Amino acid sequence: MAHILIIYSTTDGHTKKICQTIQSVIEQSCHEAKLVSIDNESTMSPGLFDKIVIGASIRYGKHNKKIYDFIGLNKAVLQNKPAAFFTVNLVARKPDKNQPENNPYMQKFLQKIPWQPDELAVFAGKIDYQKYHFFDRFMIRLIMYLTNGPTDPKTVADFTDWEQVENFARVICEMRKSA
Ligand SMILES: Cc1cc2nc3c(=O)[nH]c(=O)nc-3n(C[C@H](O)[C@H](O)[C@H](O)COP(=O)(O)O)c2cc1C
Repeated sequence: MAHILIIYSTTDGHTKKICQTIQSVIEQSCHEAKLVSIDNESTMSPGLFDKIVIGASIRYGKHNKKIYDFIGLNKAVLQNKPAAFFTVNLVARKPDKNQPENNPYMQKFLQKIPWQPDELAVFAGKIDYQKYHFFDRFMIRLIMYLTNGPTDPKTVADFTDWEQVENFARVICEMRKSA
């Protein structure tokens, strides 16, 4: 049985929900998965786990700086254990931007970090306009207008392919250190 640490960065809870699904699939495969927010980073000891998964959403073009800090601090652990990264964003709702190779946020991220994850995934995120403050709602609606997405302010749209999430969890169960 492997002990797997899942670290997430979320603003509106969607990345956490994706991590909970991954956790549930992992636990059905007789492994143990612990979920920790990057905000509680000081309470985790990544070196004690067999595998590590990091998931982070995009907000105004960026992943949370704490994710970069965590990777910088734990570079040696991440390089030595099987470890994966996934990003969550709305650009990934487009079929030509939903793979690690063609998602611009994933590509930018990989160029910035001193670590090569063994597995990668890109998940499309969620829109829930009524949850956002005025400025964020305005900005996301504008971006959606410019990119042919939903603009109705009542929209709640979950673009995540949950089967893809479950498949990724199964990949994590089998994940080995890349040669
Ligand atoms: C204020 C705000 C800014 C966002 N900026 C971007 C962005 O620049 N690019 C993008 O693809 N998605 C963007 N998104 C979409 C989020 O990545 C998506 O809603 C995701 O599901 C959020 O996950 P979370 O709840 O875990 O933070 C933004 C969402 C919000 C609310």
